[in-house]
Amino acid sequence: MQLSEYFKLIQQRVDECLKKKLDSMPAEPATLKEAVSYALLLGGKRARPFLVYATGSAYGADMRSLDYVAAAIECIHAYSLVHDDMPEMDNDMLRRGEPSVHAKFGSATALLAGDTLQALAFELLTDSKCRLSGEVKGRMCACLAKAAGFEGMCGGQAIDLASEHCTLKQEELEKLHSLKTGALIACAVELGFIAGRYEAAFSHHSNDMIANALGIVEAPEVGHDLKHLTDYGRKVGLAFQVRDDVLDVTGDSKILGKNVGSDELLEKSTYVTLLGVEKADEYAHSLCEDAIKDLERISVDTDLLKQFARFCIERDH
Ligand code: IPE
Ligand code: IPE
Ligand code: MG
Ligand code: MG
Ligand code: MG
Repeated sequence: MQLSEYFKLIQQRVDECLKKKLDSMPAEPATLKEAVSYALLLGGKRARPFLVYATGSAYGADMRSLDYVAAAIECIHAYSLVHDDMPEMDNDMLRRGEPSVHAKFGSATALLAGDTLQALAFELLTDSKCRLSGEVKGRMCACLAKAAGFEGMCGGQAIDLASEHCTLKQEELEKLHSLKTGALIACAVELGFIAGRYEAAFSHHSNDMIANALGIVEAPEVGHDLKHLTDYGRKVGLAFQVRDDVLDVTGDSKILGKNVGSDELLEKSTYVTLLGVEKADEYAHSLCEDAIKDLERISVDTDLLKQFARFCIERDH
């Protein structure tokens, strides 16, 4: 299937799951609910859901179960954007072509909307209507919590803020970008793998079967695929942020849906300040070529993931 066709399909699925969840929530407090809906449903590429669905279905997961997983990681991502745009962080007024959440609802509501979205992610991952086993849901929660927190996105955002007006070395910048953006993107791939491959092992419930399942999930071939998948995820995640840095300089605000020049204004350390536009783009390309090589060592069909790697570096939004 073509990338654009798959994007359309999964955007519909994840949006429907998010809408259902929002509809099931009480109407009050109305402003907070409005801000959460606004942050979630105002567009966005759904890149992380794409990786959940593409990886999960390659390993045999049911799309209906993946809906909850994809919606969960999109909630974490949406929360990270809401907080990232706040005056205390990047002070950006435009997101996805509309006023950012704090610009429309005020900082206090933006803060709470982000907090609510983070909690919502774990509600979705543990939703009883999601027909994955408890063991798999637990593993997914641990994976998402780690990628979102101190050793992932939040840690990266802290380094990002501390690095304003500084010149970082390449390895420091790589750590920053790998944490603030790469961790969640790699996590999307890992969640898809857990929902598919691990669920296949845990889908029967007798004690013997669980002992057997534990054997299967620790089996060398499972570790082999997971290693190459996470290598792929880390590389495309880093490339995704390198391209984001480039687009902040060369992009069109109307297409991007956010203001360009934000990094320069805040004197951020980016791959453009480190290498210049051309070399930064070259670096993103080499990361994606490497990422595609990681996929070639896996036995399942990874065509969509390969297309996604190319999309990361060629995208204009
Ligand atoms: C923007 O993410 C912030 C980064 C982590 C680079 P996306 O480019 O995925 O933003 P949306 O979800 O499509 O708006
Ligand atoms: C944000 O990086 C990464 C997040 C964790 C949200 P940026 O600050 O560069 O993202 P944009 O350019 O505002 O979307
Ligand atoms: Mg930022
Ligand atoms: Mg920002
Ligand atoms: Mg940016």
